[in-house]
Amino acid sequence: MTAAPSVTVRVPAKVNVQLTVGPPRADGYHDLANVFLAVALHDLVTATEAEELSVGCVGPGSDQVPTDDGNLAVRAARLLAAHHGRTPRVRLDIVKDIPVAGGMAGGSADAAGALLACDRLWGTATPRDELLAICAELGSDVPFSLVGGAALGRGRGEKLTELPVGGVFHWVFALADGGLSTPAVYRECDRLRGAAHVPPPEPDPALLAALAAGDAAALAPALANDLQPAALALRPALAATLATGRAAGALAGLVSGSGPSCAFLTGSAEEAAAVAEALAASGHCRAARATTGPAAGATTIDSHA
Ligand code: C5P
Repeated sequence: MTAAPSVTVRVPAKVNVQLTVGPPRADGYHDLANVFLAVALHDLVTATEAEELSVGCVGPGSDQVPTDDGNLAVRAARLLAAHHGRTPRVRLDIVKDIPVAGGMAGGSADAAGALLACDRLWGTATPRDELLAICAELGSDVPFSLVGGAALGRGRGEKLTELPVGGVFHWVFALADGGLSTPAVYRECDRLRGAAHVPPPEPDPALLAALAAGDAAALAPALANDLQPAALALRPALAATLATGRAAGALAGLVSGSGPSCAFLTGSAEEAAAVAEALAASGHCRAARATTGPAAGATTIDSHA
């Protein structure tokens, strides 16, 4: 028996180097100035021809990943099939390395990966703008998972402008036990702000210049995340994680997106290794991973006709 045709796509995690959150909109979302940087922690998504739609997931935290329509990769396959008027006859297999509910766009990555893998498997050759529109329907961070590199996200984060990056940045991620709910973190952000005036979100020119120059020393003081106070309020233990990475020599540390992963910018691969070692030894995180950004967006790495 010959193996069924399959396509495997590799898709990166992200860190928000700037996440500036506007006031809540009428539709419940928040307008953002969201500067995404893709980093080289990856999930793999394999789409294999099958009688019916199903999904499996292995790797850390995979027991918390839904296998019904709550799974964004399943919804991605359904939406793409509907877009082309076909039935989603596909098995999706996800190998997770991106932390689940960790503020690093793991679910979004799987959705973008499934979309690209199914498009290749089915030979539907969906134009890029249509793929991006389907991504935006799936979630605010999904378009960036497809594109990778670095980008400014406006609107709820889905309207992307690609950004130039002038070098490699060395990061360490402190991974936490258990996730944080993104809607809960946004709600806590609104609650903490109370009646305070919130200006419309704008990208920071100094941060964009530091990215374009590949200058970690200039990027460090510009890193900003409006969701950090909310993530710290919901998970006070993250303060010790941030303090540990900074004390170990990171240029800066911040909560990644809605958390609870924490991101530390360092000056070199050697410094990143030292910060990762100190974090792992501290007991203030589940695991620490050194990696780099930018990383490529969703990429086909294997295809069997
Ligand atoms: O778009 P996505 O489904 O990933 O968003 C998850 C949740 O995060 C939303 O339901 C909303 O509560 C919150 N969110 C937000 N503003 C954004 C993006 C997400 O309030 N720009």
